[in-house]
Amino acid sequence: MNVLKQVTQISHLRDARKRLPEPVGFVPTMGYLHAGHLSLVKRAREEAASVVVSIFVNPTQFAPTDDLEAYPRDLERDTALLQEAGVDLLWLPTPEVMYPPDFQTWVNVESLTQPLEGTKRPGHFRGVTTVVTKLFNAVQPQMAFFGQKDAQQAAVIRQMVKDLNMPIEIFVEPIVREPDGLAMSSRNTYLNPKERQAALCLYRALEAAQTTYQAGQTNAESLRETMRTIIHAEPLAELEYVSCADYDTLVELETVKGKSLLSMAVRIGKTRLIDNHVLEAV
Ligand code: PAJ
Repeated sequence: MNVLKQVTQISHLRDARKRLPEPVGFVPTMGYLHAGHLSLVKRAREEAASVVVSIFVNPTQFAPTDDLEAYPRDLERDTALLQEAGVDLLWLPTPEVMYPPDFQTWVNVESLTQPLEGTKRPGHFRGVTTVVTKLFNAVQPQMAFFGQKDAQQAAVIRQMVKDLNMPIEIFVEPIVREPDGLAMSSRNTYLNPKERQAALCLYRALEAAQTTYQAGQTNAESLRETMRTIIHAEPLAELEYVSCADYDTLVELETVKGKSLLSMAVRIGKTRLIDNHVLEAV
């Protein structure tokens, strides 16, 4: 069994990183870990010689009105899970380590961050790309692992790595779901039992659109309408957006041809949930 080493300061991280066998695989997280995060760790174990995980609830990707303070945290449990999963090094930076008072440099991916989540969460992706760049620069992994759950985030990171010539291979892993289909998310803990039941409408809507597509419907607006109808039928759900877009560019489609992304954001009570399905070209 590996012993999970924990560090906070960047100098300590660099020292510990130097001693790790290469290639190093890296899984950035905000903690409150679930089976989705652990699937990334497992894949990293398979692909890399050593695995580094970070836990940092990154303030710059939350809007002032967002749930930064309320974001769930359970470091003791997270540490036990990572130890069990065979992680070599856990980095727990503080906000002061990541954002000293004179901090003033940002990384911004321009077009891909505009649609979908970008319309509802201005500045969110600038916070994500900036912190992920800082995490990459400190850890210097050869591989990094992200979840398809945050489809636009994964697309934005792939674009950033390409545009800035970062020597890191990006892996995007499938969405891990609860047995009834709800995509695992740290935010699911906010749902009361009635809302938890209502939250299944996202998966139902995506499944319905996928079934329609597999039956031959390639009109993107018709697929979006299938999803809207199902979300609107759920009294506790408030739809923010549905999308049927090109997988790489995230531009809305008229006709589904190549690899495409069905995605949506829905509010269930105060909780904002996102989910998606990839449509493979037929
Ligand atoms: P967080 O929400 O903690 O997610 C960390 C990683 O786990 C992300 O790559 C996310 O897509 C993946 N993940 C979450 N739920 C998943 C699920 N059900 N199945 C598979 N993977 C899942 O995403 C972030 O943190 C942050 O934005 C971060 C990249 C760490 C930058 O701050």
